Amino acid sequence: MATNVNAAALDESPVPDAVQPKQQKQTVDPYNVSGEVGEDGVVKAIDYNKLIDEFGTKKIDDELLARFERVTGKRPHHFLRRGIVFSHRDFELILDRYERGEPFFLYTGRGPSSDSVHIGHTIPFEFTKWLQDTFDVPLIIMLTDDEKYLFSEKRTIEEVQGYCNDNAKDIIAIGFDPAKTFIFSDFDYVGGAFYRNIVRLSKHITLNQARAIFGFNDSTNIGRIHFGSIQGATSWASSFPHIFGEDETKTVGIPALIPCAIDQDPCEHCAFLTIAHTELTRADFRMTRDVSARLKYQGKPYAKPALIHSLFLPALQGPGTKMSASIDESAIFMRDTPNQIKNKINKYAFSGGKVSIEEHRQFGGDTSVDVAFQYLRFFLEDDEELEKIRVAYEKGEMLTGELKAICIRELQRYVSAFQERRAKVDDETVKLFMQRRPLKWGGNPRAPIV
Ligand code: TYM
Ligand code: TRP
Repeated sequence: MATNVNAAALDESPVPDAVQPKQQKQTVDPYNVSGEVGEDGVVKAIDYNKLIDEFGTKKIDDELLARFERVTGKRPHHFLRRGIVFSHRDFELILDRYERGEPFFLYTGRGPSSDSVHIGHTIPFEFTKWLQDTFDVPLIIMLTDDEKYLFSEKRTIEEVQGYCNDNAKDIIAIGFDPAKTFIFSDFDYVGGAFYRNIVRLSKHITLNQARAIFGFNDSTNIGRIHFGSIQGATSWASSFPHIFGEDETKTVGIPALIPCAIDQDPCEHCAFLTIAHTELTRADFRMTRDVSARLKYQGKPYAKPALIHSLFLPALQGPGTKMSASIDESAIFMRDTPNQIKNKINKYAFSGGKVSIEEHRQFGGDTSVDVAFQYLRFFLEDDEELEKIRVAYEKGEMLTGELKAICIRELQRYVSAFQERRAKVDDETVKLFMQRRPLKWGGNPRAPIV
C-alpha cells in the first residue's frame, strides 16, 4: 500500500480536487484517503475490492451474514445488506464467542479535531449502536484529543480538550445506552492499567514497523510515532479494570470488536505486532508469530481485536474523496440547517447524470459515482424504494434534480432527528458517560459475567 504521509496532509485529509495535476495511486491510511488518479487526471472511486486484497482483510459475504442472522436472531443492518460494512478481520470468532456465551466488548473512537462532527463520522457510530443493541455488550469510546494535538501544527491542548465535550455530546446523541457505555479522553484517562498496556504495546513496536505502517520519517515528532500504542492499547480489556475487573489473567483473553471505516485499520493493527505490516507487505510471518508468542500474561495469550470495516461516505465533491471536518463545502455537518443541507446538495453534490437532459433520458445516470444516490444507500432504509430509484435513474427516467430532492429530504430527516436528541444532551449526561464506573450489561443470556 502506498503510504503517503506528509506534515501538511496529517492535519485533516484535504478534499482532493476533481482534477489533480498528475497520476497517483489510490491511497488509504489513517491520514490520507484518495482514489486513484488516472492518466486523464480524474480521481476514480476508491476500489474497495483492491483494498481488501491489499489489507488482507476478509469480505463480508452472504454466508457470514446468514450465520449472523442465525446466531443473533436479527436481520442484518442495511449497512451489512448493502455492502457498506463490507470487510472484517476475525468477526466470525466474535460470533463463535457470542454463541458460546463468552465475553467480548465493542471499541470505537473519534479524534476531536473540531467542535462539530460531519455526517460521515456518524456512520461507524450508528453501526456501533446497532451492534450494542444486538449483542448487549459493553462499549468503549475513545476520544483521541492527544492525537489531534500531536497531528496538528496549530491546535492547542486547551482547544482539543474543549472539542471533546462537544464531540461527546454528538456521540451520545446517536443513542448509546449509558449503562453499557464508557467514553474517555486520552488526556484524562491515561495512567494506571491503561498506561501499563500502552507501554507493553510500545515495547513491541519498533521504529521500523511504525515507519512502514504509517509512513513516518525522520522529521516526524516522536509523539506521533508513539500514538499508535495508545489507540492500540484501548483494544485490551485489561485497560479498563473498572469495567472488566482487576484480574488480568481473566481480562487478557477478552477481545474487542472494533467498528470503524477502513482508514483506521492499519492503526489498530500496529497493536498486533505488525499483523497489518505483515499483511500489507506480505512478509515475515515468522516474526509476527515470534512476537505474538511473547505477548502473554502469566502464560495466557492476549486476545487479538476483531475489526469490522465500513466504506467511506464520499465527500460532496465525488466518489474518490473523503469528507473533511475543516472544509465546510466537503460535507454535510450534523449542525447544518435544513436549508444548508438543501443548498449543499444542490450546489456541490457530484452528479452521475449526463450533461444534457436529452442525453440523460437516452443513456441514464451512473449511480456508482452519483453522490446523491450514494448518500441514499447509506441513509434510506427502505430497500425497495432504493432499488426503484436506482433503476429509474440508471434508465434515465429520473433526473438529477429529482434524485437530489429525495436525497435532501432523507438527509434533512436524519439530521433533524439527530439535532432533537442532541439538544437534550447536557454537561451532566457527558459526565455520566465519562465517569469511571462499573457498567451493567446483560450480554448473551448465557454469558458468564466477568
Ligand atoms: P476520526 O475522528 O477521524 O473518525 C471517527 C470515525 O469516523 C470514521 N469516518 C468515516 N466513516 C465513514 N465515512 C466518512 N466520510 C468518515 N470519516 C470518518 C472513521 O473511520 C472513524 O471510525 N484516531 C481516530 C479515533 C479512534 C478510533 C478508534 C476510530 C481512536 N480509536 C477505534 C475507530 C476505532 C480518529 O481520529 O477518528
Ligand atoms: N443529468 C441531468 C439530469 O438528470 C441533466 C441536467 C439537467 C443537467 N439539468 C442540468 C446537467 C443542469 C447539467 C446542468 O437532470
